[in-house]
Amino acid sequence: MDVTMTVNGRELTASVPPETTLLKLLREDWDLTGAKLGCDVGDCGACTVLVDGTAVNACLMLAGQADGRQITTIEGLADLDAFHPLQKTFEDLAALQCGFCGPGIILAAKYLLDNNPNPTTAEIRDGLAGNLCRCTGYTKIIEAVADTAKELAAQSAA
Ligand code: FES
Ligand code: FES
Repeated sequence: MDVTMTVNGRELTASVPPETTLLKLLREDWDLTGAKLGCDVGDCGACTVLVDGTAVNACLMLAGQADGRQITTIEGLADLDAFHPLQKTFEDLAALQCGFCGPGIILAAKYLLDNNPNPTTAEIRDGLAGNLCRCTGYTKIIEAVADTAKELAAQSAA
């Protein structure tokens, strides 16, 4: 089947078998390897991308279900000049260890902050509940999301 979608602002088309997942399409056809293949069954969140602005496990979505939609991967979050504030804060706090969970966690955090710009710690934990970090670095990850929320609030007040 043929699928066409807008990925990080670019319209892309591919011809894939119907059982192809969005994750496989992104990684293997379009070389967007930021979304990681972890569990492949919806448990770890390593494959998280945004589909029409909503955080989705790309291993559970078929490429055909993403046809015609807007996809954002970690590669599309920064622009050429600067990291997204979430990426900058994660870097500043050294909030990740091996980094494998990072793209999924940052996109899940973006979805959280887009919908709740001033989350409590409990709401951050809840928002990231579907994203596992094998390095168990949750304290700094939660701190990084909270700091980003404060920075974005300061930017919008300035
Ligand atoms: S690889 Fe998709 S949730 Fe784990
Ligand atoms: S930093 Fe290693 S899995 Fe999260």
